[in-house]
Amino acid sequence: MNNELQPHPVCYLAPLQGFTDFVYRQVYAQVFSGIDAFFIPYISVKNNGVLRKYEKEVLPANNQQTRVIPQVLAASAEEMLFLANYLSTLGYTEINLNLGCPYPMVTKRGMGAGLLPYPEKIEHILAAFFEKTDLKLSVKMRAGLVSATEIEQVVPVLNHFPLSEVILHPRVAKQLYSGDIFDSAFAFATSALKHRLVYNGDVNSADDFKQIHQKFSGVDYLMVGRGVLMNPFLPAQIKGLGISAIEKKEKLHEFHQLMFDEYLKVMDNPGNALNKMKQFWIYFCHNFAEPKKSLKKIEKSNGLTAYQTAVNLIFHGNLS
Ligand SMILES: Cc1cc2nc3c(=O)[nH]c(=O)nc-3n(C[C@H](O)[C@H](O)[C@H](O)COP(=O)(O)O)c2cc1C
Repeated sequence: MNNELQPHPVCYLAPLQGFTDFVYRQVYAQVFSGIDAFFIPYISVKNNGVLRKYEKEVLPANNQQTRVIPQVLAASAEEMLFLANYLSTLGYTEINLNLGCPYPMVTKRGMGAGLLPYPEKIEHILAAFFEKTDLKLSVKMRAGLVSATEIEQVVPVLNHFPLSEVILHPRVAKQLYSGDIFDSAFAFATSALKHRLVYNGDVNSADDFKQIHQKFSGVDYLMVGRGVLMNPFLPAQIKGLGISAIEKKEKLHEFHQLMFDEYLKVMDNPGNALNKMKQFWIYFCHNFAEPKKSLKKIEKSNGLTAYQTAVNLIFHGNLS
């Protein structure tokens, strides 16, 4: 699909390992509108191969939405090329490189945000990629590993290569997922980066997006993560599409039921499906008037019947 023809703002679903898996992405696309591209949570190399849990995530049959972009974590040019070839063989034409994962287990191995202090390593990986593959590549990054000025050394490297776009979550890795956003890092990227820039981080309402749009000279490419998990109507709301309370309840109900049915189908046993649904409710509970109480009810349910009873009770109450 040609991005330039899409109505703006253009809105991507962020990759969230453990949450936006293939079941979530498929069911979401079936029920809701507003997402222009779905990013698959990262896959990586282990023992010269790709783990089975990742195989299902990238299987083309599980990714039939309009635009789906797999993401890779790589510590070297070799790993990058291995994953690029693997994904190319599956039929993907575009992939995304993760330069943002903040967890020490990842960064200490020189992956994710662990690459940001080493622009020469990024240069090496990108040079090998563009020399040896025909795939398109985008980058998802943070402002830095420990300092938000690390980006200043990385952007010139990114400018050497024909990236399709750069998604920036303007925090440093040690903050994980909370704390102040570094406006200065995003402003720097706005002026110094040659590529299209996509904003990511803490956009949880249409108003949040309006503020970002005003602050950063009309940025209109956006990636949303936890905001969608909490409120699946968010992309449509950002695009100005209204929805009635009745329609809202119906859609949430349909979404939940499809998620539950699908997890029961694809998980090894009902207990695992129930655990997935309990995880889903960590964010989904925010659609209801008393999120904490609702989540407690779900967490306490110790079997499928108890779970369904808790869900029915919650849906009979008010929406948030
Ligand atoms: C549980 C969880 C898992 C995540 N997994 C990934 C991932 O696999 N790849 C990635 O690039 N970012 C990952 N992220 C970061 C998100 O994509 C996003 O950059 C971050 O949550 C900020 O955006 P948001 O405030 O809209 O959620 C993850 C974040 C969370 C909370």
